[in-house]
Amino acid sequence: MSARTQELTAELDLRIQSKLPRVGTTIFTVMSALASELNAVNLGQGFPDFSCDPRLVDAVDAAMRAGFNQYPPMTGVALLREAVVAKIRASYGHAYSVDSEITITAGATQAILTAVLALVHPGDEVIVLEPVYDSYVPAILLAGGIPVPVAMRAAGAGGARFCVDWDEVRSAVTARTRVIMVNSPHNPTGMVFSATDLSQLAAIAETHNLIVISDEVYEHMVYDGLSHQSVACHEGLAARSVLISSFGKTFHVTGWKVGYVAAPAVLSTEFRRVHQFNVFTVNTPMQHGLASYLSDPTPYLTLAAFYQRKRDLFLEGIKRTRFVVEPTAGTYFQLASYAGIEGPGASLNEVDFCRWLVREVGVAAIPVSAFYDLPRESRLIRFCFAKQDSTLQRALERLSSL
Ligand SMILES: Cc1ncc(COP(=O)(O)O)c(C=O)c1O
Repeated sequence: MSARTQELTAELDLRIQSKLPRVGTTIFTVMSALASELNAVNLGQGFPDFSCDPRLVDAVDAAMRAGFNQYPPMTGVALLREAVVAKIRASYGHAYSVDSEITITAGATQAILTAVLALVHPGDEVIVLEPVYDSYVPAILLAGGIPVPVAMRAAGAGGARFCVDWDEVRSAVTARTRVIMVNSPHNPTGMVFSATDLSQLAAIAETHNLIVISDEVYEHMVYDGLSHQSVACHEGLAARSVLISSFGKTFHVTGWKVGYVAAPAVLSTEFRRVHQFNVFTVNTPMQHGLASYLSDPTPYLTLAAFYQRKRDLFLEGIKRTRFVVEPTAGTYFQLASYAGIEGPGASLNEVDFCRWLVREVGVAAIPVSAFYDLPRESRLIRFCFAKQDSTLQRALERLSSL
């Protein structure tokens, strides 16, 4: 680099003033890179290692060949918005308006950022529940808001069962709180809201006139006969919530990045004001393909059974190791405590334990501490079981050596 270029770089560096100075390469990227470099079994990042239904690919292919390759409407293809309305009505009973209350997004990540940018003003406080999905806090900071983390309560074997302490949430509300962000089924803990959780959330939101951003990307992965408690199940919450979901999770196509937002017109109008300049709209053929695939509800109605079998397979195996677990109630993640493991890895913090595990044992996992703002150690790591049975078996064989 020439001296002049160095000078310019230094000048620019001073000028930039990063908006997210604490954000670096995430542990998800680091662990995936290590897993591939070391040829380890990757149970870290949350994505399936199996294919989606070929009928879904055929439906997208047919849409492309039929010429659906230009910009769709800003809010999304009407057929897909209609299908989303029908799916939500059948699943949770609330009837959203196709025209004014559903917007198709570039996955849940864009929906989260757009909702926060549209609704959070500089100086607003936003309550998030820790452990918290990694995009929420950066989104709040970009909007000039102040994240207010409330720690979930840990209980159960190895501290691996989590729930929300609604009294703590209540005491975190101030006159500056505008939004509360929730996520059920919850990544990384696998916690799912009960009807009581929903009532508690509704009572707090109504008392303080809060907007709720409800991330429900794992809505169809709830186990052991429980049912997903969507904000769309509760009239009062549906009226003040931005509900976010993702087809990537539901149909094993995380790389397609297509999701949706359902929100009352007053919130959808604001959401769309930002959405149209953020992404404007989302891949046309994917939207047509998804619309046609959604005409049969079987794939999403059978998803819980599909993943519960994988959870049980993984659970049975991991119980035979020295890890301590509580069965996950939802999502495709299983937490495990390594507090009972003896030997060289035992004394390490969660990040170092995961680095050690991938190098020495050949299995990639994610430290739960990555989901907290301040350093915190609970000796919990997260495994993703959205994998082929053979991948899970390979991981279990390696983990049983501990
Ligand atoms: C809780 C949660 N929200 C949002 C997302 C992002 O979803 P998408 O891939 O549709 O952007 C994820 C993905 O891992 C997630 O776990």
